[in-house]
Amino acid sequence: MNPEQLLQKLQTEFDQHVYGENPAELYEPIKYIMSLGGKRFRPLLTLLAASIYTNEWEKALKPAMAVEVFHNFTLMHDDIMDQAPLRRGNPTVHQKWNANTAILSGDVMLIKAYDLLLDIPKEQLRRVLSRFNQTAAEVCEGQQLDMNFETRWDVTEEEYLGMIRLKTSVLLGFAMELGGIVGGADDHSTQLLYAAGENMGIGFQLKDDLLDVYGDPSKFGKQVGGDIISNKKTFLLIEALSKATGETKIELEKWISLKTFDKSEKVEAVSAIYETLDIRTFTGQKIREYFTRGISSLEQLNISSERKEPLLEFVHKLVDREN
Ligand code: IPE
Ligand code: IPE
Ligand code: MG
Ligand code: MG
Ligand code: MG
Repeated sequence: MNPEQLLQKLQTEFDQHVYGENPAELYEPIKYIMSLGGKRFRPLLTLLAASIYTNEWEKALKPAMAVEVFHNFTLMHDDIMDQAPLRRGNPTVHQKWNANTAILSGDVMLIKAYDLLLDIPKEQLRRVLSRFNQTAAEVCEGQQLDMNFETRWDVTEEEYLGMIRLKTSVLLGFAMELGGIVGGADDHSTQLLYAAGENMGIGFQLKDDLLDVYGDPSKFGKQVGGDIISNKKTFLLIEALSKATGETKIELEKWISLKTFDKSEKVEAVSAIYETLDIRTFTGQKIREYFTRGISSLEQLNISSERKEPLLEFVHKLVDREN
């Protein structure tokens, strides 16, 4: 199965999946966010990782869906935290309904993710649940750090990388590891799969930060400039703060400290500073660096390159994504 075929299968499965019916107010937002699609690349990583070790990729289907449902739960809550108006080109759940709805529908999605994991055989379930629980707690830790950093000026690159490892990478790592476990990989291989997902996850979040500034609004599906508006300590802002000098530094600090401002004016001014400092190129290099690290873990997997090929091919495409 190639990634396109797996995505088709996944889509059919999601279309048929019933999260619950009553009260409709609880389940409608779940159907809504899940129907908006997204790249579905976490479950694809699970399926592709499992496919390295087994031809029975269906074994990984429900577990892969669990990862995607969990991811969508984090997005529903993240959009409240980030006051985001748009998700996948459509209004966010808290905008379309309200924050209370987004909180509770998100909560039940987390429970439904656990339900999907129950499909895993008894011999593997305890291990998977323990790894999933650790991952889920780490995502919350990362999200809290992300918010803590909004009001700090002195966030270092190292602190930032630690924060995105938690909020984003560990789930990619888990998605890959899960595929390995369900597919029957040995322990060393599941560790390599996790490491690959972890490094690619850092590259993936760096790219997300980059697209938040430079994304094409018609493809990105989220509010371009949202991170600048809310003073998110993204890789771009941290680099800009450390590289800027003289007038540029004063200008950047002015925009970050303003309590009231015109949103598009701020986005334009801060983006212009990033251009002056060549932050876009530098971020692009970092993204490639982390993807290269991830890919090298995959290359170390002790299995024929033929079996690894679909996953490697898929991962190479992720680097150049536009949404
Ligand atoms: C968005 O994830 C949140 C991040 C961790 C950057 P995706 O970029 O995978 O979003 P969808 O699922 O494709 O919409
Ligand atoms: C999101 O980071 C990470 C999680 C959802 C856990 P962002 O806040 O950058 O994700 P987007 O840009 O809203 O998708
Ligand atoms: Mg966020
Ligand atoms: Mg967000
Ligand atoms: Mg983002």
